[in-house]
Amino acid sequence: MKFFKFGSVLLGLLLFVVPAVGAAAAEDEDCYQLLENHCQSCHMLGRVCKKLDKKSERAWKSTIVRMVKRRGAEVDAQQQAVIVKCLVSRDASLVQGCEQ
Ligand code: HEC
Repeated sequence: MKFFKFGSVLLGLLLFVVPAVGAAAAEDEDCYQLLENHCQSCHMLGRVCKKLDKKSERAWKSTIVRMVKRRGAEVDAQQQAVIVKCLVSRDASLVQGCEQ
């Protein structure tokens, strides 16, 4: 009896902890990793790096929407928001990644 009780507590813990770890891992992609994972299946990131200083927030938003709607990039709404933010702020990971 005692064992079963312990087992269900353990199971409960597992069900609780595993998705939390999964979610944390997804958020841990830094800017550059997000771009590497979602943007370079079709073109080199150089295309993005080249435009770092040149586009406003609005321009980046519309570029990314175009990549998703017209070109077929797989980036969900939350990732799009993160990508736009880091492109506009010229995130450190991005600047470093672009210099490589
Ligand atoms: C499914 C293929 C595909 C994916 C994935 C993709 N792109 Fe593109 N991208 C294209 C194509 C095709 C072009 C050239 C035609 C055009 O500009 O629409 C392009 C051009 C570009 C350009 C140069 C043109 C401009 O507007 O400055 C930028 C910048 C760009 N992509 C950014 C991105 C970013 C950022 C991502 C990730 C969020 C991404 N792309 C993902 C297909 C893709």
